[in-house]
Parts: sequence; C-alpha cells; structure tokens
Amino acid sequence: MQRTDDGQVIRLSDYRPPAFRIRHVDMRFSLNDGHTDVETVMEMERAPDTDAAEPLVLDGDALTLIALDCNGVAIGAERFEATPDRLTIRDLPPSGPFTLRIATRLTPETNTELMGLYRSNGVWCTQCEAEGFRRITYFLDRPDVLATYRVRIEADREAAPILLSNGNPGEHGDLDGGRHYAVWDDPHPKPSYLFALVAGRLDVLTDTFETQSGRDVDLAIYTEPGLADRAAYAMDALKRSMVWDERRFGREYDLDVFNIVAISDFNMGAMENKGLNVFNHKYVLLAPDTATDGDYAGVETVIAHEYFHNWTGNRITCRDWFQLCLKEGLTVYRDQEFSADERSRTVKRIGSVHGLKAQQFPEDQGPLQHPVRPRQYREINNFYTATVYEKGSELVRMLATILGEAGFRAGMDLYFARHDGDAATIEDFLTCFAEATGTDLSQFALWYDQAGTPELYVTEHFEAGRLTLSLRQSLARGAAGTGIEPMHIPVRFGLVGPDGTDLAAEPTAGTAEVEGDVIHLVTAEAEVVFSELAERPRVSILRDFSAPVTLRHEQAYEDRLVLARLDPNGFGRWRALTDLVGEALRAASMAGAGRPALDPRLIEAVVACAAEERLEPALRALMIALPGEAEIARLVGSNVDPEAIHQAREGAIGAVATAGAETFRRVRDGLERSSGNFSPDAASAGRRALSNALLMYLSAADGTPALAAEAFRAADNMTDRMAAATILAHRFAETPEASEALDRFYADYAHDPLVLDKWFTLRATVPSDATLDTVRDLAAHPKFSMANPNRARALIGGFATGNPRVFHQKDGAGYRWTAERLGELDRLNPQTAARLATAFRSWRSFEPVRQEQARAALSALASRPELSRDLRDILDRTLS
Ligand code: ARG
Ligand code: ZN
Repeated sequence: MQRTDDGQVIRLSDYRPPAFRIRHVDMRFSLNDGHTDVETVMEMERAPDTDAAEPLVLDGDALTLIALDCNGVAIGAERFEATPDRLTIRDLPPSGPFTLRIATRLTPETNTELMGLYRSNGVWCTQCEAEGFRRITYFLDRPDVLATYRVRIEADREAAPILLSNGNPGEHGDLDGGRHYAVWDDPHPKPSYLFALVAGRLDVLTDTFETQSGRDVDLAIYTEPGLADRAAYAMDALKRSMVWDERRFGREYDLDVFNIVAISDFNMGAMENKGLNVFNHKYVLLAPDTATDGDYAGVETVIAHEYFHNWTGNRITCRDWFQLCLKEGLTVYRDQEFSADERSRTVKRIGSVHGLKAQQFPEDQGPLQHPVRPRQYREINNFYTATVYEKGSELVRMLATILGEAGFRAGMDLYFARHDGDAATIEDFLTCFAEATGTDLSQFALWYDQAGTPELYVTEHFEAGRLTLSLRQSLARGAAGTGIEPMHIPVRFGLVGPDGTDLAAEPTAGTAEVEGDVIHLVTAEAEVVFSELAERPRVSILRDFSAPVTLRHEQAYEDRLVLARLDPNGFGRWRALTDLVGEALRAASMAGAGRPALDPRLIEAVVACAAEERLEPALRALMIALPGEAEIARLVGSNVDPEAIHQAREGAIGAVATAGAETFRRVRDGLERSSGNFSPDAASAGRRALSNALLMYLSAADGTPALAAEAFRAADNMTDRMAAATILAHRFAETPEASEALDRFYADYAHDPLVLDKWFTLRATVPSDATLDTVRDLAAHPKFSMANPNRARALIGGFATGNPRVFHQKDGAGYRWTAERLGELDRLNPQTAARLATAFRSWRSFEPVRQEQARAALSALASRPELSRDLRDILDRTLS
C-alpha cells in the first residue's frame, strides 16, 4: 500500500540532533518465497543532555511488528505503540547502553515501489536511500545516525546461491532443509540509507585490485544468469576509477571486497551502498551489439560516480537530507573530472553544460525551482534533482576555479582529514576550503541558498587601444523568503587576436579583481579595462562555462562569427557557434513560417566545422548538431509554439544539408570505417558520432530513406544501427524502409530488455501525427510493463520528454495520455511516476491554448483522491 500524502512539510530550520544513538546493528534475514523475516538487534543509548523521560520514536513505513524486547525482556504493550509508520517506546533506561530487539515480517514479492526490500526477476535486493530502510525495520532512519552492521542472511541454496551484504564476508555454511547462510561485517559506521542486501541466482565477473598502499581488493560484478561477460567494460571502468581517486585525491579503497550487482528493476541509475553497489543493469551491461557509445560513456560515469561516493558520501555522509548536494554535487564534480581525464576534456565539458542547460536551467526557471540546498520538502525523493546534482557540481567547479587547483586540493584534503566518519553540512565543507586557503567564502555560500539562474550582462567598449568590459549580474526574485544578493561569479575569459591566439593582456584598471584568465565579479556591477591594445580583440567570455549563469553578451555578429571559427578555446568556439544558431532558430520560430532560419554565413560556418581537420571528430559532431527543439523552446521562453519550432528547425536542417551535402559526403567517406573490430574508446566513438551526424544531413539532402536503410543493414554495432534506425523512423516515418527497419530491430532484440527499451523510445519519439496512436498501442503491447521502471520511462518518458511536437500537440491529447499513464504508474511506483511528471514543469511557457490543455490534464490527475505523496508534491508545486 503506497503512502498517501499527509501534507507534512520538513524544514531545515527544525533540525535537531537525534535523542538516541545506535552504535551497532545486528540483523538476521530469513528469506522465503512469499515472506521474509527480519530480526534487528540494536545497541543503543540516549544521547547526552537529553531528557531521560523522552520516548524513543522509530521510523517505519508499511511495517508489521512481530516482536519487541529490551535487554532480552519483552516490552509490555503498555510501554509501546506500533503503527505501520512509527514505533514509540516509553520508559527506556534513563542512561547507559541498552539493547533493543525488533522482529518484522516483510513481503518483498508485493513491493512494487522498489524501496526497501523487493524482488527483481526473483532476486532479493534493497534500495534504502533516502528512506527505504524504514520499510525493513523500525529504525532512526536518518543519515546522522551511524552504526556498524553485522548481517546474517539465510535462504534456500537453490533459490539464492549468492548472499551479499555490506562490508567484508564472514562465516557461511549449510543449514538443514536445503538452506544456507552467510554473514557480512561492515566495520565502517554508516547511516541506514547505505544498507544493502542482495540474494539470488546470479553470475559473476571477478577481478582484483591492489591499492596504492598494497592492499588487495577482490572485485566482483554480479549479473542475472548468462550476462556476466557484458560487465567487462564496467569492471575496467571500476579499476580506472580506483586508480584515479588515488592519484587525483589520494583516496584509497577501505574494504577487502567491492561488489556490484546489476538489477533489472531499479528506480534510478545506481546506489552507492557501502561495499555493495546496486545498479540499474542499464549502467553495467554492455556489448557492441546492444549498447551505443552513449551507453558506454554512461556506464563509465555511473560506475565512477558510485565508486567515488565511498569517500564523498559514505566515509563522510550528510547530516540531514537538506545537505544532499554535499555528497551528490561533489561526487558529480568528481565523476565529470574523471571522464574529462579519461576522454576529451572539451567534449566532456560541452556535454555537461548541454545537460545542465537542458535539465537544470528549466527546473531553476520554473515552478519546481529550489536552491541547491533546499530549505524544505514534503517528499525527499523529489529532491534528487538536476539542481542538487548538476548545479551542485557546478558550485564545486566554481570553488575549484576560484581557489585554483592547489587551493582546491588543500581544501579537499582538510575535508577528508577533519570529517572522516562524520555526518557533515555544507558549512563544514566550505569551512575546510576557507581555512585551508585563507579565503572568506561567506559570499560564495550564497550559491547554495539562492535559487534561480543569475543573468550575466557583458558589454564592451573599445577606443584608442583601450578595451573596457562592463559586467553586471542580476537574479530574478527567487523562491519565497530569499533575499537577492550579488554572488561571487568567476568569469573565465580570453581576448582573441586576429590570428586566433589569445592576447597576453593584463588589465590596467577596473573595479573587478582579475586573476589570470578569471574575472571575479563579486558586486552587482564592475568594469575591467585593458589598455595599449594594437587592435580590437574579440572577447571570448565565460569560457568553459565557468559559472552556471545565463550569458547576455552584447557582441557584434561579426565578432561572434569570427569566434565560432577561431576561438582557440574549444568550448568557446562551440558556444559561439551554437549560440548564434540557437538565436537564429529562436527568431525564426517566433517569426512564423516561411522565413529561412539561418543566414548563409552561419550555414557556411556550420558546414566548415564538419571538415575542420584540427578539431577532433567528437567536437565536430557537437558543433554541427543544431540545438534541439526543447532547447529552442527554452530560448524562446514564453508563448512557445512547438509546431513553429519544429518547422523552423526542420527548415534549418534542410538548408544546412543542401549547402553542405558535398562536404559532408567527402568527410563521411574519409572517416575510417569501423572494421568489425569494435572499440568503445572515445576517439572511435567520436568518429561514429560525426559519421552519423553527417548521415542525418545527407539523408535530409537526399530526401529518401536509401542512405539510412543501407547504413542500417550495414551496421555492425548498436551506435550505427540506432543512428540509422532513428533517421528512418523520425525522418521517413511512412516509408516501407522505416517499418522494415523497426520490424527487424524488434525481431532481433525482443528478448533483450535494454535494447527493447530503445525500440519503445524510438517509436514514441517519432514526430508525426500518428504517434499518439502508436503510444496507445505500445502501452498495451505484451512487452510493455508499468512495473519495470526502465520500460515505463522508455515509453512514457520517451514520449513526454523526447517528442515535443506530439506531447505538446495543440488539442491536449498528448498531455492527457501522459497524465493518465502517470496515474496508473503512481499506484505501483510513486517515485518513478513523480519523476516522469516533471515533464510538465515548463507548461506555463507555452502559448495560451496549450497552457490551458496542460493545466486541465494536470488538474484532472491532481483531483484523484489516492495519489502518492511523491506525485502529489510534484503536481501541487507544478500547478502552484
Ligand atoms: N545516491 C544515488 C546516487 O546518486 C541515488 C539515489 C537516488 N535515490 C532516490 N531516492 N531518488 O548515486
Ligand atoms: Zn550520487
């Protein structure tokens, strides 16, 4: 039974330390088909300075209490009160340690929320972050209660030959009746959200790792039967992550084993449980024939992310859930840096910025806006957001920019030394950097509390060899109760000379401090002056996206075109070009039909990029990709007409395709053909990305499905196959070639869930009028399942976030279909339903007819009486 909303608001200002401590937890699980018995023995005591009469209030969620005793004596009914979501015990010892024993009985088989203990394809597994442990036993289920754990698991040997929990393996053996057991010991005190248990019939890929101090660690990745060989790349990524964290941050692994389990039914990407990471199998299982280059990169990132949590999250955890960015923002920063070091820094940065603008900016500029450190929530699961993760990472990146590499490392070292074993806060974190470098970070701290995307206005004035840059920041009124104060915005810049190299100009006057290539804007307005310049330079500003702001740079069109061609900073070049194209598409879609979107010089600039040998292919692929329809909608901002955007963008694709056809063909022919020896490395992936971007333009120029159909037939890896199938399905929807490819794809992969998800999404994202019927059919397809989050996301999420033209169709049918599916999903899995509902977050930016349709669909859903707290919270905030 799902939790329905009780309307309760949790506030940061109400934080109180726990009144009791739990030092050690001893758990015994007896797994059976149909029910699981759990016995939990906790070594506890009252926190000092607490009222000796205060009752102990433990959290629960849908629990059934079987037994309860204290120091071996049953607690009488008059001394406790047990409800499914709370256990209150009075008259516990006023001081000194005591032992509490709690027995509960669970039915993981009926747990469709996938929080707590559940079964995925028969495998017992857990997800406890944020508040799932309370679905296993009554507990002080909050991150500032840290205990060591000993876990004994008992199960049928046939049903569950593998028995896993956190920490190091202990004794194990056989029992009567075909059963067996295993014991796990986790010596590192941890909060309950890091607890994990997995049991089932699993295959394993093993390896070993020697840490820098010479400790041997046994590594294992468990998969469903027959799939362990698909974990090889994940294992490789794990070992590279372990090396990287030692080299870059001096962080070594701290247990004898590191286990990863890949599960098919999982609400999110993965989970960093101590010594036993549990993953959505999408972020572990790869083969050239089933996974795209994007999937490979995603696995590398998520494996690294969860591994890095061992220090930033596990050894140092969060005091309360308001501090979530303490572990998530920092760990995203670390995984981004890892990928940048392992692949191409520029390409990685462009990808991260692209993601930030696509996900975090709309969130920060709409009804779901919240600070990186929220001050209140109703449902914490709804705060695992782009703002907490991605903007949180940008804040850490700014800190590194402001303090410099050595200063940042000194701050991190102090943080690890001082807070190891703690449940810490953002203040603790910032204090380490302030002390290690002697910097006052009180203004920087505003970034954590002020919601919204600041605007950065830049104007330039050049006269008699003197360049004056005027900078101004402004932040729209944020969430209620926020005062708006100027923030510390680090602005990385370069002055590009006529030959395309950076001038080594030092500022000669001004009101902003400049350090190297960074302007520190700390006031509402400031100026920087450069003198004795022989010629007017082109100003390349906000390089590497040095702050998460919206840039409003008044710069001559000519200068921007020049920067798009020769800014020596690859990121700056990409930005100059894509901003020009984005603004042109914005203007064209607002002007209405019939107006060519791109001027010839811009088209020429795009085409030229494709052929520019000194740019790596991956970067060329990014430069020639036009901004997506959702991105253009964001640039338009209000009164958005998705149909007009679609037409303008299609017109631009046609224009680039026609102008570039010859160049594109030549470049594509020149790219090394993949030879059957597939390699997922970044350079090979970059060549495939460029080749497939060119194939799209060439198909558009040709106007027939022939090229894509040929590419689909010839594909020897999933990246190329998927790219060709997408061109066929999306651009040549009604042709026999398209249906043949989709049928072939289905026939070849119907047995492979991860690939079948791609097929569902591919069909749900076709931008044609027939797609609404398609998605209706797909929701009734025998292979569709609401109970599997990946499949639900593939269809509903694919449609609602990947098909702007049809989701936002003017008659509201796309909205209604989506809202109805969300209502169904909510009854099974509130967390996933709530996440998918955020597809509506920008509904107010659309033109009035669509706004009204969206409001009606959302209101109809919100008027249902039995909504979960998760979905209710998102709907209320979205409609407010
Ligand atoms: N800590 C996990 C990660 O970022 C994600 C957990 C998400 N939990 C949730 N309730 N949404 O690696
Ligand atoms: Zn994380």
